[in-house]
Amino acid sequence: MPLALIILAAGQGTRMNSDVPKMLHQVGNRPLVAHVLVLARNVKADKTVLVVGHGSEAVSQIARDTDPDVAIVVQSEQKGTGHAAATAKPALDGFAGDVVVLFGDTPFLRPETLARVIEARKSYDIVVLGFEPTDPGQYGRLIMDGAKLDRIVEFKDANEAERAIKYCNSGVFCAEAGVFFSLVDQLEDSNTNGEYYLTDIVALGKERRISATAVMCDEAETQGVNSRADLAAAEATFQARARADALANGVTLVDPATVFFSADTVLGRDATVEPNVVFGPGVSVETGAKIRAFSHLEGAHVGAGAIVGPFARLRPGAELAGDVRIGNFVEIKNATIDRGSKVNHLSYIGDAAVGRDTNIGAGTTTCNYDGVAKHRTEIGDRVFVGSDTMFVAPVKVGDDAMTATGTIVTKDVPAGALAKSRTPQHNKAGFTAKLFEKFKPTGKSRRKDS
Ligand code: UD1
Ligand code: MG
Repeated sequence: MPLALIILAAGQGTRMNSDVPKMLHQVGNRPLVAHVLVLARNVKADKTVLVVGHGSEAVSQIARDTDPDVAIVVQSEQKGTGHAAATAKPALDGFAGDVVVLFGDTPFLRPETLARVIEARKSYDIVVLGFEPTDPGQYGRLIMDGAKLDRIVEFKDANEAERAIKYCNSGVFCAEAGVFFSLVDQLEDSNTNGEYYLTDIVALGKERRISATAVMCDEAETQGVNSRADLAAAEATFQARARADALANGVTLVDPATVFFSADTVLGRDATVEPNVVFGPGVSVETGAKIRAFSHLEGAHVGAGAIVGPFARLRPGAELAGDVRIGNFVEIKNATIDRGSKVNHLSYIGDAAVGRDTNIGAGTTTCNYDGVAKHRTEIGDRVFVGSDTMFVAPVKVGDDAMTATGTIVTKDVPAGALAKSRTPQHNKAGFTAKLFEKFKPTGKSRRKDS
C-alpha cells in the first residue's frame, strides 16, 4: 500500500526561548526536522508533506536540502495538530494509501517502529503509537478498551481517573488517507485550548464504526524537544544511541562516553576511536583506521588503516587515503593526502594535494592565504619535506624532490630537485663569554628596551 507521511512542524517552540525556530535546533549536528525527513527516506515513503509555520522559510530550506522531493505546506496560524493535518490535505489530493502523521520535534522514532504501526493498520482503521513513560506528565492519555483504542483525552481535558492512566499518546497516527481526512474535516475546537486536536479523530471514528488500536514503543523513541533542557536530554539520547550502534557495528570505542558523534558519522568495522574524540558533520572513517585521543574531525574522510592524532584536527575537505599518518597538532583542511604519506608533527596543510609516500617534516605550513585569495600547494610522490618548510602558494613540488629544513618555497620545485633557501649561519667564536663579561657586573639587561 502506498505510504504518505505528514510531518507537523509549524509550532513556535516558545519554551526554547530562541530566535531560531525550534525545528532548526540540532541534535547530533542535524536539525530536528531533518532527523524526521531522514526517517521518511528510510521508510521509503511515497510522498512526504511537511507542514511549516513559524520560521517557515528557514525550515523549508533545510527540509529541501534534506529531501528535494518534500512537499511543503504552510499553516499560517497554528490552530492545533488537527488543523495542521488538515492543511496537508491539498498536497495529498488524489493520493490513495495510508498516511502517517509524525511530529517534527520528535527525532528518535525508529523505522522498525513505524513499520509495526503500518503493519497494525492491516487489522485496524486507525493506529496510534503509544508509550508508557516513567512520568506521564502532560501527555495525552490513551483510553483503551482491551486491544481497542476507545479515545484519546488531552491532559488539560482529562479527569482524575483519566490522568491516572499511564498509556500516553506519542502523536504518531496512521490511517487510510480517505478515512483520515474525512475525520480531520469533522474536527471541532470545543476544548480547553480552543484548538483542533488530531487526537479527537479516534472518538469521532468510533461513532462511525471506524476501529482504532495502539501500538506501544519505547519511551526513548518518542522523546520530544520543547525546551533547552529537552534538547540537552535529546542530545544525550542521540549520543548514547550512536555509541551503541558504533560498538554493534564492530568499532572499538576505548571510552564510549567521551566520543561525540554526528548523525551522519560513518565508522568502518575494526576502526578504533580513543577517548575524547569529536566527530563533527560529514565524517567517514574506513575499516581499521585509528583515531587517537583528543582529535576533532569534520567534513573529512579517513582511509583504511590510517592513523590520526592524538590532538589532530581534520577540517572540511580533508581526504586521507589508506595508511596515511596524521600526528599531533596537525591541521588538514581541503587537502588530499595520498596513500602512505605522513604529516606527523605541528603542521598546517590547507588547499593542497600531497602525493604518495611523501613525508612532511615538523612545522611545515602551506601558506595558502595571501589576505585576499586562497591558493593551492601541490606536492608529488615520495617527496621529503624538511622541517619548518613554508610553501608560499600557489606552488608545485615534483615527485622525489626534497626541501631543506627551514626553506621558504616560493617557486615550483622540479622533480628530483632539492629546494634550499636558508640564511647563512655565522658562528662568532667566544661571543657568549665576552657578552657576559660586559653586562654581568653592571646588573643591567643587555636589552635596549629594559
Ligand atoms: C500532542 C498531542 C498529545 C501527545 C503529545 C506528544 C494533540 C492534540 N496532542 O500534544 O496527545 O501526548 O503531542 O508529544 O495532538 N503543530 C503544528 N501546528 C499546530 C500545532 C502543532 O504544526 O497548529 C506541530 C508542532 O510543531 C509539533 C507537533 O505538532 O511538532 C505537536 O504539537 P504540540 O503543540 O507540541 O502538541 P502537544 O501539546 O505536545
Ligand atoms: Mg509537544
